[in-house]
Amino acid sequence: MNEHTLSMRLERVAAHVPNGARLADIGSDHAYLPVALVRRGVIDAALAGEVATTPFQAAERTVRDSGLEQQITVRLADGLAAIEARDGITAISLCGMGGETIRDILEAGKAHLSGAERLILQPNGGEQPLRLWLMRNGYRIVSEELLHENRFYYEIIVAERADPLVYTAEQLFFGPLLMQARSPVFLAKWQRALRLRQKTLAAFERAQAVPEAKLQEISQQIRWMLTLLA
Ligand SMILES: C[S@@+](CC[C@H](N)C(=O)[O-])C[C@H]1O[C@@H](n2cnc3c(N)ncnc32)[C@H](O)[C@@H]1O
Repeated sequence: MNEHTLSMRLERVAAHVPNGARLADIGSDHAYLPVALVRRGVIDAALAGEVATTPFQAAERTVRDSGLEQQITVRLADGLAAIEARDGITAISLCGMGGETIRDILEAGKAHLSGAERLILQPNGGEQPLRLWLMRNGYRIVSEELLHENRFYYEIIVAERADPLVYTAEQLFFGPLLMQARSPVFLAKWQRALRLRQKTLAAFERAQAVPEAKLQEISQQIRWMLTLLA
């Protein structure tokens, strides 16, 4: 992967960035996503935010080597603190981090959100708590994707501010739109997850030292998966 050829995962994230958006890619690492989008002419301006020095320097290098310093700003900052009002950001991507980390970045950075931005989120696990944060903060999930690349399943969640709405516990767990679409890759993911959860539950029951609440949680998830796949 580089600034010319994105992974399938980032390629699908890129597909949700509207033409002409002003993108803030938070946790940008090498800044491959904003650089690829500006090079392709999809967007004119972007911001790459990084909290760690080494990826921040990698982002600076990619932008400099591409000659895009005028269009892409690279900032060393924690989460949404990279965004300034004068940037006029209209889309924010947070990709390749745990869902809880993405949720915590959004929660800590609420003051930097105008509410008009499209959020394009690609969590590595922890999708349920992330969707819960979106629901509690007045976001509607407008698109969801699931893809399988290099033996991993990746979810992409696209959200925009909307009138308050309530998702059921199952929708928060599986994804409201993924659940509706029931794609072959979605069913394969949950067939695999069901086998793993059943093994985990059996091991926990044998160990006899696992808190009852944890056993109940896994049992509940197994029931949801069995219903989904019936
Ligand atoms: C695994 S990389 C993902 C890079 C790229 N977004 C992608 O999807 O390929 C995660 C990056 O997020 C950065 N990161 C983690 N927490 C962050 C935070 N609070 N603010 C900004 N960047 C953060 C890490 O330093 C790391 O470079």
